[in-house]
Amino acid sequence: MSSLSVNHLLGIKDLKKEDIGLIFTTADNFKEVINRPIKKVPSLRDTTIANLFFESSTRTKLSFELAEKRLSADVINFSASSSSVKKGETLIDTVNNILAMKVDMVVMRHPNPGAALFLSKHVEANIINGGDGAHEHPTQALLDAYSIREKHGEVKGKKVVIIGDILHSRVALSNIFCLQKLGAEVMVCGPTTLMPKYIESLGVKVEFNLRKALEWCDVANMLRIQLERQDIQYFPSIREYTMLYGLNKEILDSLKKEITVMHPGPINRGVEITSDVADSEHSIILNQVENGVAIRMAVIYLLAGAQSAN
Ligand code: CP
Repeated sequence: MSSLSVNHLLGIKDLKKEDIGLIFTTADNFKEVINRPIKKVPSLRDTTIANLFFESSTRTKLSFELAEKRLSADVINFSASSSSVKKGETLIDTVNNILAMKVDMVVMRHPNPGAALFLSKHVEANIINGGDGAHEHPTQALLDAYSIREKHGEVKGKKVVIIGDILHSRVALSNIFCLQKLGAEVMVCGPTTLMPKYIESLGVKVEFNLRKALEWCDVANMLRIQLERQDIQYFPSIREYTMLYGLNKEILDSLKKEITVMHPGPINRGVEITSDVADSEHSIILNQVENGVAIRMAVIYLLAGAQSAN
C-alpha cells in the first residue's frame, strides 16, 4: 500500500489497518528527518495549509504548524477568538474565504462533533480533524499508538487501559478504534458516571477499580477530567476523584510489574496523575509529543499525495 484509502483524516474509524501501517512507516522516515541537523524537507513546497482552531490547543496546534513547516508548506493560522467569527461569520463562510486564498489543506479543531465531516462535504480541500468535540482526535490516537509501538516493539497483543473521563474524551474514542485495529486489548476505567452507556458495544473491557485495571495492563493512558465539557456534577469532588482514580507513585510501586504511563496532555498535575509519576522513567508523555510531529508530517504528506519523503 503506497497511498491512503481516504482523502481526509476525519477519524480513525474510517481508516484501514493498512492506512495506519503506512502512516507509521512514513512517520519512521520523518522521525529520522527531524533528528537531523537540517530538519526540513522540500516535499510540500507548493502546498498551502490553513490551521483553523475554534477551540484552545497547545500541543496539536504547535505540532501541526511545525510538521507543516518541516515539510516546507506555506502555513496560515486562524484562531476563532481573534477572528470575524466573533462578528457572526459562519464556519462555511469562514472556510470558503480562506480557501479563496488558494489553500490546499485544512487542519481544524472545533468544539462540535462532526464539524470536520461537515467541512469535508462542503469544500474542496483535504481536511484533517484536529479534534471535534467529544468525538474523535485521530492524530492523537496515531501518535499514541506509534509511541506504544516504539516503546514495546509492537501494539498487537498489548494490554492498554484508558483511565478517567471516558464520557467526554475524543482521545479515548480514537484510541479505542486505533488500538483495536492494531490488535491491542483495550480496557477503559473510570467512575460509572463518566462511562458512556454504549461503551461495551465497542468491544472494550470495562473496569471501575483503578488497582485492578493497573494490574491487568501493560500501558496506562491517563486522561484529564474535562470540566469545560461537564454541564452537571459527575462526582462529589476533585479530591475524591483523585483518591479513587489518580495515579501516584505509591500505587505504581506496589504493582508487581512495570507499566508504561501515557497522557495526551494537558496534564492536571495532582489530579489524574502526580508529578513524580508524570516525570518518572515509566512516563513516555514527552515522547508522545515528539512523535506527534513525525505522525502529523506523515499524515499531511500522504494526504497531499506527495511523491518523495526526501
Ligand atoms: N493532546 C492535545 O490535544 O493537546 P492540546 O489540546 O493542547 O492540543
